[in-house]
Amino acid sequence: MKAISLERPQQFRAIDIPEAEAPAIGEALVRIHRIGICGTDYSGYLGKMPFFSYPRIPGHELGVEVLAVGEDVTNVVSGDRCSVEPYMNCQQCFACRRGNGNCCENLKVIGVMSDGGMRERMILPARKLHPANSLTAEQCALVETLAIGCHAVNRGAPQPGERVLVIGAGPIGLSVIEFAKLSGAHTIVADINAQRLEFVRGTMGVPDTIHISGDGAALDQLHEMTGGALAQVVIDATGSNISMSGCVQFASFTGRVIYVGITQQEVSFLHAPIVHRRELTVMASRNAHPDDFARIISLIENGRIDTRPWITHHAKFDELIAVFPTWLKPEAGVIKAMVSVD
Ligand SMILES: NC(=O)c1ccc[n+]([C@@H]2O[C@H](COP(=O)([O-])OP(=O)(O)OC[C@H]3O[C@@H](n4cnc5c(N)ncnc54)[C@H](O)[C@@H]3O)[C@@H](O)[C@H]2O)c1
Ligand SMILES: [Zn+2]
Ligand SMILES: [Zn+2]
Repeated sequence: MKAISLERPQQFRAIDIPEAEAPAIGEALVRIHRIGICGTDYSGYLGKMPFFSYPRIPGHELGVEVLAVGEDVTNVVSGDRCSVEPYMNCQQCFACRRGNGNCCENLKVIGVMSDGGMRERMILPARKLHPANSLTAEQCALVETLAIGCHAVNRGAPQPGERVLVIGAGPIGLSVIEFAKLSGAHTIVADINAQRLEFVRGTMGVPDTIHISGDGAALDQLHEMTGGALAQVVIDATGSNISMSGCVQFASFTGRVIYVGITQQEVSFLHAPIVHRRELTVMASRNAHPDDFARIISLIENGRIDTRPWITHHAKFDELIAVFPTWLKPEAGVIKAMVSVD
């Protein structure tokens, strides 16, 4: 069957791989219908993703259909359309035993650290499939991106009446915004990119935005917007160590700061005047929990999350290698690009 491999940075290759075998106990054979492309794929392509190894079949945001199931599989049946939880956890380490497979010590995200879904069919552990028969395959492929935001917001647990500041309005920030809004808290979004803020106001229904220009005015603006209280929950989705170091200043007394963006660089901030004095809680947020997938599927089903603004670009499987580099250009305005396999 056909597959696409990222041989090395900036070099995709169409390859032919052996047909997937029959599913063993606990496994399912699935047909891949849609593949969402995200920042991890772009960074892998550019050779800027430290967890990415080559050659690699990418693809971790998947909308699939079950073709066959192995013995003992009860959560899905043949014909089910599903979203895939791409975090393959060991089920044995400390984190897994505590029910935190999202940050398993031996975690392999398919499409990043092991081969993913850029192919026609594959075998997956059935426990990683979340049936979503009333969603389109494209919506199924969007669930994983949304799950990242869902988990980050769960970590911060904003309450109605509180204020959430989301910094960075890329796809991950947008997924955070969806759940910040659903929490009933008042959502404010900040970015250095005015165009992204325009999208947030015009399409995501968040009127309060702050353009960060690096001159300190952003803090004054947040101060004014919040009657001096600042934000009880600050979620940094920039991946910038500069933003991640500075964002504690936006947190209110007893506030929570959540890093959903990832940096390899050092993050540092003043302890006594800000973090200690305000008694802040600083948290990381990694991947998402299985329950988040089920929740998101029902939120899309009930129309509480509108997926229409999300998907901005499409390509057919056979066009992907040619089209992919064009999606990297900022002027392309890609939020989420989808590849269709069928
Ligand atoms: N927690 C997880 O499990 C998880 C999963 C996937 C991705 N991520 C990470 O989430 C981050 C965001 O991903 P994305 O695809 O949305 O990236 P992106 O680059 O598309 O978006 C980042 C946004 O942050 C803004 N930004 C950059 N520097 C800023 C600064 N100093 N101040 C304010 N805004 C700034 C950019 O203008 C952009 O709009 C990345 O670091 C990515 O690795 C985390
Ligand atoms: Zn992704
Ligand atoms: Zn584990």
